[in-house]
Amino acid sequence: MLLIRNGDIVTATDRFTADILCDNGVISAVGMNLEVPEGTPVIDATGKHVFPGFIDPHVHVYLPFMGTVSKDNYATASKAALMGGTTTLIEMCCPSRTEDPLDAIRLWKSKADGISFCDYTFHMGVTRFDETTADALRHIVSIEGITSFKVFLAYKGAFGIEDTELFQTLSLAKELGVVVTAHCENADLVAEKQKKLISEGKLGPEWHEPSRPVTVEAGGCRHLMTYAEMTGAQVYVVHTSCIPAVEAIEEARKRGVKAWIETVSPYLTLDSSYAELPNFEGAKFVMSPPIRSQEHGDFLWTALAEGIIDTVGTDHAPFDYATQKHMGHPDPAKCVDAHFQTTGTPGNFTLIPNGIPSVEERIKLLYTEGVRRGRIDLQTLVRCASTKPAEIFGLYPRKGAIVPGSDADLVIWDPEWRGKISAATHSMATDYSAFEGKSIVGRADTVTVRGKIMVQNGEWVGEKGWGEFLPREPKKYGDC
Ligand code: URP
Ligand code: ZN
Ligand code: ZN
Ligand code: ZN
Repeated sequence: MLLIRNGDIVTATDRFTADILCDNGVISAVGMNLEVPEGTPVIDATGKHVFPGFIDPHVHVYLPFMGTVSKDNYATASKAALMGGTTTLIEMCCPSRTEDPLDAIRLWKSKADGISFCDYTFHMGVTRFDETTADALRHIVSIEGITSFKVFLAYKGAFGIEDTELFQTLSLAKELGVVVTAHCENADLVAEKQKKLISEGKLGPEWHEPSRPVTVEAGGCRHLMTYAEMTGAQVYVVHTSCIPAVEAIEEARKRGVKAWIETVSPYLTLDSSYAELPNFEGAKFVMSPPIRSQEHGDFLWTALAEGIIDTVGTDHAPFDYATQKHMGHPDPAKCVDAHFQTTGTPGNFTLIPNGIPSVEERIKLLYTEGVRRGRIDLQTLVRCASTKPAEIFGLYPRKGAIVPGSDADLVIWDPEWRGKISAATHSMATDYSAFEGKSIVGRADTVTVRGKIMVQNGEWVGEKGWGEFLPREPKKYGDC
């Protein structure tokens, strides 16, 4: 048993002062002056917010991609998540086009089982659809308990799928009651733009954004919406970065397409000028779709506050700067990294592994830049980073809620803590932070997962392997 006394409880819809009693891993009571047996451990949460555990609906922990493999493992990523107040991870299982889907999901699960500190599940990447795929996916949904898919309209030749495969995936998803998450960019246009920029000698990280302009992302969204409309599948657009992309999805919603919109912390808190930093520092900020100019970031905050954007994830993609981002270094004379030494050829922005690590920082950034700056309120913070991800992906009300019966995943948040983000102190396994030196207000003071304290007074006290896989049930389409 654990009693959290007198906290300022914040949910997606409410805010009130009460005690929370946790028993046997779940919340057993919420109310004022709860009576507990003598000896029950008590945490005094006076002056602090108590949030339902946060859910990151879009992370990569194990990601073989662009000729390298991401740096985190489940021990480092789930510890980092918990230190930042995230108690559930939904990881993208991303097989190559030649990998067997069942082998892939078992491999991804094996990376977390018995290792993860926090709870977790997966979106099943569909990177090929042939005569064997439907059976494998049916099994993955009904036996493995994975009820969301992931498709890439970008990254042709790697994870990207053809239109006939997209149609088959969405048709099957509709039949099974599965939500399809999608990376939306027009892959052919990206390839053309990349070729042209490189032929003009435009090689540095600052050319990554121009190679994947907002039109290319909006075009990808429209394409997905057409297929969702044709099949009746429910879709979830991941990492939405810009105004035209949100508008394209809004337009389809008006026609009756069921589509959710996710944005991610880098788009809200960074802008495209970071990719222009000298000495190849810009490579730290290369992800796809790219980080846009400030007007897009401002728009995303407003769309979030208005409920047009449903969720905020991270797209945590942990690549090191020194050895991995440098694979795209254009200037051999200045580069001492592995890429140049092994190939002897200069790189360019298309060779920089795409992605930014931020699983640890999402809630701090949303709180500091969103809540404290008056861009979103506390309920929106809880809605977009906990309750909505739980609802969309079949975890609610086990997760995302503070009601009797819900898992006792709780974040006691100190709103007055002040500090700075630094790679020197973070728990992620990467050698840099995209938010290095950033001043932060507020932090996760105490974090529980199913009633077990994993972070206490900002210090790590977690138990390895405490995290559990979360099997999920398919949706009844039309219910949400
Ligand atoms: O740049 C990104 N987003 N890297 C991770 C892979 C993906 O597209 O989600
Ligand atoms: Zn993506
Ligand atoms: Zn991703
Ligand atoms: Zn280099």
